[in-house]
Amino acid sequence: MPSPSNPDLFPAFPLADYLHHQKEIDAALERTLARGHYILGGEVAEFEREFAAFVGTRHAVGAANGTDAIELILRALDVGAGCGVVVPSHTAVASASAVSRAGAQPVFADVEADTCTLCPRSLAALLDSPRGKRVRAVLAVHLYGHPCDMDSLARVCGERGVVLIEDCAQAHGATHKGRNAGALARAAAFSFYPTKNLGAIGDGGAVTTDDDALAARIRSIREYGWVRRYISDSVGVNSRLDELQAAILRVKLRDLPARIGRRRELAGLYAELLAGCGFVTVPEVRDGCGHAYHLYVIQSPRRDALMEHLKSRGVPVALHYPAAIHQQPGYAGAAADSPALPVTDALMPRILTLPLHPYMTDEAVHHVCEQIRDFAG
Ligand SMILES: Cc1ncc(COP(=O)(O)O)c(C=O)c1O
Repeated sequence: MPSPSNPDLFPAFPLADYLHHQKEIDAALERTLARGHYILGGEVAEFEREFAAFVGTRHAVGAANGTDAIELILRALDVGAGCGVVVPSHTAVASASAVSRAGAQPVFADVEADTCTLCPRSLAALLDSPRGKRVRAVLAVHLYGHPCDMDSLARVCGERGVVLIEDCAQAHGATHKGRNAGALARAAAFSFYPTKNLGAIGDGGAVTTDDDALAARIRSIREYGWVRRYISDSVGVNSRLDELQAAILRVKLRDLPARIGRRRELAGLYAELLAGCGFVTVPEVRDGCGHAYHLYVIQSPRRDALMEHLKSRGVPVALHYPAAIHQQPGYAGAAADSPALPVTDALMPRILTLPLHPYMTDEAVHHVCEQIRDFAG
């Protein structure tokens, strides 16, 4: 039987994150409300400037959420009906749903067993097969906050004339050879869903890119295809980041590096305390990568029993995700058009997400690890 988790040891991240910034957030909300400009005003413009500087790109364009941010990139690149987009099947379903919303077809590729990110060899084999003929873009999902092998993916895509895009919904603050996730490909999509490393108090998203023309196109498409007010140059959508969320995000962005630092400290503590625990594998970090630890996902051949044991001890464990996308009924059609995914299939019953966020104490991590060791005993 699951036991309720102790809120002192395991506070919920979105509320703890608000309480940590409460004074500044409340002041920013008051300022924004008093200004009276509620859609695409100064807060969004300033946040876009500050977020682009954080990521290290020329542009950031706010959007209503992360799923839309992916869709906006694909629309702006004219990747739609008749086109395939490669997506790892081991990701949030939103990665594939955005592709479908753009009118394109997701085609699933396999991931690497250690980092759970898109496998360059699987991608190359897919692109070189008959299924790869219609593929125009590849979505590199930095799952859990670990950057994909971007050099290899860029080489595979470059040699075949396919556009590489990043899904950074879980990777704010992740780095690859000293550069931030979001600055590693043609364009990148971020989510500011409340649980993310940089979370709003509601929905929010953004696209980052160095490409001036692409940024201008995305700005236009996110607001009905307008370039001038009321005149649509193309068919667009309504997907705007709102002023209140932008004001909140500006506050939280200022100490994001410190909060990522704390995530890394706690991840280090887990790795130290779980070392030598034979039935658990802790997350790998590839050389040259900085993991942002949005999620701390271990692997175990005894996952289900371990999960039940931890739940019975009040440890808030979770599955990200209980099923890969190709295993879900809604994507049976796309799965039938995709190759076999043996690594993803083997990973699904092994993964388990342990609690980790910057407002947890060292004591909480010690507590989780003691429960894991008890399971072994
Ligand atoms: C990998 C990934 N991609 C895309 C998204 C979509 O973001 P949003 O929920 O803001 O639409 C998410 C969020 O859950 C995600 O985890």
